[in-house]
Amino acid sequence: MSAVDLVVRGGTVVNADWRGDADVFVAEGRIAGLVTPGTPVPDGSRPEEVDATGLLVMPGGVDPHCHVGFTSGEFTSLDDYARCTTAAVFGGTTTIVDFAIPRPGQGPLEAVRERRAAAVEGLCDSALHGCVVEWDETTADQLHEMAALGVNTVKMFTTYRGETMADEYTVLKTMKAMRSTGGMVVIHCEADHIIGEAQQVCGARGETGAEHMAANRPELAETASVAEVLAIAEAVGAPVYFVHQSTAEAVELVAAARRRGQSAYSEAVAHHLVLDEGAYTGEHPERFVCCPPLRSREAVDGLGRHLFTGEITTVGSDHCCYDTAQKEEHRHDVRAMPNGLPGVETRLPVVYSSYVAGRGLPVTRFVELVAANPARLNGIYPRKGALSPGSDADIVLWDPAARWTVRSRDLHMATDYTPYEGMEMTGRPRTVLVGGRVVVRDGELVDARPGGRTIASGLVENLC
Ligand code: URP
Ligand code: ZN
Ligand code: ZN
Repeated sequence: MSAVDLVVRGGTVVNADWRGDADVFVAEGRIAGLVTPGTPVPDGSRPEEVDATGLLVMPGGVDPHCHVGFTSGEFTSLDDYARCTTAAVFGGTTTIVDFAIPRPGQGPLEAVRERRAAAVEGLCDSALHGCVVEWDETTADQLHEMAALGVNTVKMFTTYRGETMADEYTVLKTMKAMRSTGGMVVIHCEADHIIGEAQQVCGARGETGAEHMAANRPELAETASVAEVLAIAEAVGAPVYFVHQSTAEAVELVAAARRRGQSAYSEAVAHHLVLDEGAYTGEHPERFVCCPPLRSREAVDGLGRHLFTGEITTVGSDHCCYDTAQKEEHRHDVRAMPNGLPGVETRLPVVYSSYVAGRGLPVTRFVELVAANPARLNGIYPRKGALSPGSDADIVLWDPAARWTVRSRDLHMATDYTPYEGMEMTGRPRTVLVGGRVVVRDGELVDARPGGRTIASGLVENLC
């Protein structure tokens, strides 16, 4: 082995498929080796030593669903790459996957080029999902060009009529094209016609405010749309990834399709795994407005069980950094409100605390959900999502015993609130390395250089 420039000593390494005591050698930004604790460094090395005694040493989180400076309707969420990735790194995430959503009249390829240009100044690396809203005779070529640029996953929506909603024909044609690029459609499923009907019924009763969010977007809309999209994917033999699934029923439809031989995946997001619709009865229901909405406590528990059964493939954040003023502006009309919750920084701590510390989810499975599988399904594994020789040295030293209380003022996202305010947590990142550099040490930012790169997705792995 040639000279190493950093060594992490004394910790317990946790990958998705293995945990054990090991020291980690780093050279030129990559993992050079996992070695028996105490192994001397190769001759000629003068490495920086990072003490990980009592800590878990995990691959940095990969957030497969992170909206940066996201525009929807009249609102744009408040962060840029510098701010979002700073918060990400504080929360133990070292790669984010953002979205290139076309503006009205813009094609998917142009949206990718524009978004790529914005993806500068990040503290950590980022990748992109493209997005198709409407199919035309140029779309297939655009998708192939996007794949060549390293954007091989495409976001689609079955809701948000008049904005980003795609019809069934467009979904089918896009899936077929993505099959030929070795990529995949990632899709937000809520049947817009069912939501339209629910909103009309709620509207007639004057129930349009944020406190009525759950009734305005019923579970049935999600399950109906998931079933339809699975059928389309089956018809063209394409893989499909369902973002932010919020109920066990939706996850189970996908699991059943997998058992029939489809390549189909379920993403859950942290807020649906922890928070419930009780938030809509509080003083600030608008701060919890997201699509799909928060569900009943029973639904949260049902969804959470699938972290244990293996039916959920990844956990994302669906980070959308609106502040309380933006959320309040149309709080009496959920049809006009900005949807989405800030969460890139809290994703790992919230899921670790609730499920690993709280309910005994194996920490290897945690790493699989928040890092390894998101990397696999975005074509960036094992460069990301693993600590193995050759992987980028994106490393989180995690204190499993840390007890702390979530306070918005202590977080780094570009907003003035967190949906988890006041929640007691167990476990948090203590020190975070990006590309072999210590960026956060003992909870303090020690290196703010914008070293983040845009990274290319290759072929999406088949995990079925
Ligand atoms: O409420 C949400 N999820 N807002 C962000 C956009 C989306 O649908 O993912
Ligand atoms: Zn969505
Ligand atoms: Zn989203």
